[in-house]
Amino acid sequence: MATTPLRQQWMLRNGIAPSSLAGKIFTVAAYKGGVGKTFTAMELAYLLGAILIDFEWDEGSASIALGYNPDDRQRSILIDAINAERTPKPIWAGEHEQAGRPALIPGHAEFEDRQPSAGDMEKLIRAWAADLGKQYGRPIVIDTHPGGSPSTLGAIAAANLNIVPTVFKEREMKALEGMFKEIGHFPFLMVPNMTTTSPPAKYLTWAIRLQDTYQVPISEEFIRDYRWLSTRSLRMVNCSVDHAPVKKAAELVTSLNAIAKEVVVRCLATQ
Ligand SMILES: Nc1ncnc2c1ncn2[C@@H]1O[C@H](COP(=O)(O)OP(=O)(O)OP(=O)(O)O)[C@@H](O)[C@H]1O
Ligand SMILES: [Mg+2]
Repeated sequence: MATTPLRQQWMLRNGIAPSSLAGKIFTVAAYKGGVGKTFTAMELAYLLGAILIDFEWDEGSASIALGYNPDDRQRSILIDAINAERTPKPIWAGEHEQAGRPALIPGHAEFEDRQPSAGDMEKLIRAWAADLGKQYGRPIVIDTHPGGSPSTLGAIAAANLNIVPTVFKEREMKALEGMFKEIGHFPFLMVPNMTTTSPPAKYLTWAIRLQDTYQVPISEEFIRDYRWLSTRSLRMVNCSVDHAPVKKAAELVTSLNAIAKEVVVRCLATQ
């Protein structure tokens, strides 16, 4: 039997069998851009030992952040798989595993025009997750494009849990409320991101009202605002155990581990 990769050993320490997540579907989603979806998706995918599926079609994508530029490639793993009606094959999985990076199904610029309808996307994702769960014994984490595009809506509908980076600012909270009004019946978890040491009472109250109205819980752990993150150029996740996290990232890594644990516990509690 394969040994548990180092990055998943925190699960064992917390009494969680990594195999219990095989085939599970997580998304990181929010209608508002720039709230930290891609950042959260990369870190969570790594910690959960998940296959990261990149649904973004512009420059800020996880594929590019991790060092795979889809524009340099003739073909798209994602679009080819959809056309051929088969499950996409991740890069950096199994024997091709790379230090500090989750296994990845890269996105592509053409996915904007080539994405299936929400209903078809939902069915495809369920089939892919089941298949990848069997093949690799892993869950999937989908990094969605901002807004309510068909691929995002399909992914949200298919997911066991949708993680929503929640930024305590006016337009971000309005966009969040709009999203929950439309699709708040799906399983979401608000994860406050880019927070200050004492978040403004107005936004905390707002988040709690959303929690009560739409039964969308707020994570216990909040992620602080780390200015240096946006200038970081290392193509590895912060939570990578394959390189020593820089001292300034220690608090961030602790927060992300706590959030990963909350995500797993919630997912397994609702199955
Ligand atoms: N907690 C944080 N503190 C500081 N910067 C952060 C934090 N989380 C994310 N960022 C930074 O904010 C920027 C936007 O993050 P990211 O690209 O993950 O957002 P996004 O929601 O995926 O954006 P888009 O909607 O364009 O896909 C990035 O530069 C990222 O490094
Ligand atoms: Mg993004």
